[in-house]
Amino acid sequence: MKFNYLILSWFDKNKRELPWRNTLNPFHIWLSEIILQQTRVEQGKNFYLNFITEFDTVKDLANADEQKVLKLWQGLGYYSRARNLHFTAQFVSNELNGVFPDSFKELKKLKGIGDYTAAAIASIVYKEPVPAVDGNMFRVFSRYFNVEDDISLAKTKKVFWDLGLEVIDEKRPGDFNQAVMDLGATICLPKAPKCEICPINESCEALRLNKVLDLPIKTKKTKVTNRFLHFILVENEGKIGLVKREGNDVWRNLFTLPMIETTTDLLDNELLIKENIHLDLGFISEEKHILSHQNLFIKYYRYTADVSKIEQLRNVSDFEWINLNDIENCPLPKPIEKFINYHFLD
Ligand code: ADE
Repeated sequence: MKFNYLILSWFDKNKRELPWRNTLNPFHIWLSEIILQQTRVEQGKNFYLNFITEFDTVKDLANADEQKVLKLWQGLGYYSRARNLHFTAQFVSNELNGVFPDSFKELKKLKGIGDYTAAAIASIVYKEPVPAVDGNMFRVFSRYFNVEDDISLAKTKKVFWDLGLEVIDEKRPGDFNQAVMDLGATICLPKAPKCEICPINESCEALRLNKVLDLPIKTKKTKVTNRFLHFILVENEGKIGLVKREGNDVWRNLFTLPMIETTTDLLDNELLIKENIHLDLGFISEEKHILSHQNLFIKYYRYTADVSKIEQLRNVSDFEWINLNDIENCPLPKPIEKFINYHFLD
């Protein structure tokens, strides 16, 4: 029996009930796909529901303050996705009259929409037979068809795209793509695949050849850099110092505590000497925060010198005074939010 028939019959009986599966509204499908690039389905559901409750139409999102969008995105990380989301909502709303493009080719012209997202939207909403090539698809296809191309090479995407075009169900392309996603997320798992209950196990090449765990082939690991960030808590009369981050770095447009970055890990007193900082800092805590391409080694300090000297800190990291009651309007990176909640708001 054919791959698409088997996988669709399985999907019809076993598909996950997900809030974006009851709609063909392109704005809602787009939102769900962008959110799901950032997190797993279980957590994504809440973010999706919060977003569509707040912004029912692309116009609502376009008219929102960026700060509000980032606040709703808070916790998902990789904030450029949220900024692109906002930008594209404004573009669709203002330049395209609020109407989403209705083909893979046109969708791809929008900022933040690449091959995967364009294919997901075009196949689900407009029934265009284009394969959504993502990590799940790499895994399911490489195993089922025994594809040995290295998925860390950019050119390999085309191999899977072509194979996807060949086998996608022409009548139900959106369900086909989502069937591959569900199979990849629940059965064809990376480390512990459940081949014994897989609906396509009788014709899976990798299973027949006993190489399920060897596929997909990925030679290059993503390069990860280590960064050492020292955050300083300064407070005075119900206000704390926060810095709005700018430039082309992580957490752009989010607020953090004033910060000093060093190239290596330093002991607390070394930080003061080496960076020539004449401030009286008290160490509070430390943690490691992992982003997709960066390990952030974070330390928190409290500035304990008298208030009149606080202004010195502006030479190190220019901050503004924010009332503790207004923090809820400031989008914060996850670790900073946790730290502030723990120390002030709970
Ligand atoms: N992951 C990304 N998009 C998805 C979808 N539409 N359904 C299930 N999982 C997904």
